[in-house]
Amino acid sequence: MNDTHCLFTGYQGRHVHLGVTGSIAAFKALSLMRRLLAAGVSVGVTLTEAATHFVTPLSFEALGADPVLAGMFASEAASFAHLGPAQAADTFAVVPATANTIARMAHGMADTLLSCQLLAFEGPVVVAPAMNPRLWNATATQANWETLLARGVIGVTPDCGEMACGETGQGRLAEEHAIGMAILRTLTPQDMAGKKVLVSLGPTREYFDAARFWSNPSTGLMGACVAMAAWLRGADVTVVHGPVSWWFPESVHTVAVTSAAQMYDACLEVWGQSDYGVMTAAVADFAPTPLPGGGKFKKESADEGPPLVFSPTRDILSAMGQSKMPGQTLVGFCAETEKLRENAQGKLTRKRCDIIIANPIGSVEAGFASSSNTALALAADGREETWEKLPKTDMAWKIWDFTIPS
Ligand code: CTP
Repeated sequence: MNDTHCLFTGYQGRHVHLGVTGSIAAFKALSLMRRLLAAGVSVGVTLTEAATHFVTPLSFEALGADPVLAGMFASEAASFAHLGPAQAADTFAVVPATANTIARMAHGMADTLLSCQLLAFEGPVVVAPAMNPRLWNATATQANWETLLARGVIGVTPDCGEMACGETGQGRLAEEHAIGMAILRTLTPQDMAGKKVLVSLGPTREYFDAARFWSNPSTGLMGACVAMAAWLRGADVTVVHGPVSWWFPESVHTVAVTSAAQMYDACLEVWGQSDYGVMTAAVADFAPTPLPGGGKFKKESADEGPPLVFSPTRDILSAMGQSKMPGQTLVGFCAETEKLRENAQGKLTRKRCDIIIANPIGSVEAGFASSSNTALALAADGREETWEKLPKTDMAWKIWDFTIPS
């Protein structure tokens, strides 16, 4: 699974305390911790006694966790370490969480170092369970889980699949990016809370026979980063995407389409209820008229190839600009091989956008299928900024900083 759209950075000065409990998935807490450190977060760790049978405190220390605590009565826990992380951390994450730890949390027990710290912690708590499906489905575990969710704990539901023990069902630790993003969201100022955001992304496919289509090399990465940045900042996000598959959190609403015409209908339907529209999709401007017959065009039917006739598609961004209501903000993108500013300014006005983000294409470091991007941002109110070669996650952050009123 490509999770480039989740690799946000800039979380220096934020602190997460990670509780690790005794599951076969305990080793996965190590790579989660590395991901958090790469985002700039500092991480402290408490292992339960059971967790130390699966993974050692030294592994966490060696990878950069500080402090690493294990055991209620260990010497490092002497100076009130059982409450220390409750004061220092911005977020407490329990990954993986066993049925036992979930039960302790639900019932307010304080008989282990970790449960004691959790009971005293007043900030956001993220819990990612991992256990055998029968333990997960047990009435007691489900009741405990509901108790935690009702109390405001942010739950990252376990995945379904084959378990370490060979059984199949629900209980696998959720994917690392899903847990990582749930944690990062708790560390992000929610300056877009309550805002409804529509993002279009990816290419469109215009089929001209049963097996062939006209398209472009867009991967949708820029749009996926824009959508994730808005979600991290608290927005209510809808993604309309062409045939690409990016992971999004459960609370992001996704609409899959294939053709420009389908993308037009899907975007226009959502736009009326949106505060922001960011149209990153590389929509086909022309679509070949489907060949007669509806089947597959055969080589022997014409030496010169299929007789394609193209007709223009409807411009989604322009239609949204035409129907824009006061209070709505529309952001367009343009990819240009020449006259970047001139073409961008023309599209800003012509398509009635509030902002246009113009990318030069034709270099390996920018544009289609690249993980970094160079852009010129122009606003209808005369503001402009130039961003040199940034990862698309950083670029997405800048787009929102430029778009939302400060
Ligand atoms: N766009 C759209 N619907 C289309 C074509 C484009 O919504 N049928 C949107 C894109 O999502 C992007 C913006 O319009 O936000 C600009 O796309 P671009 O391809 O750069 O501009 P075009 O208007 O298609 O002009 P040209 O291809 O001639 O440069």
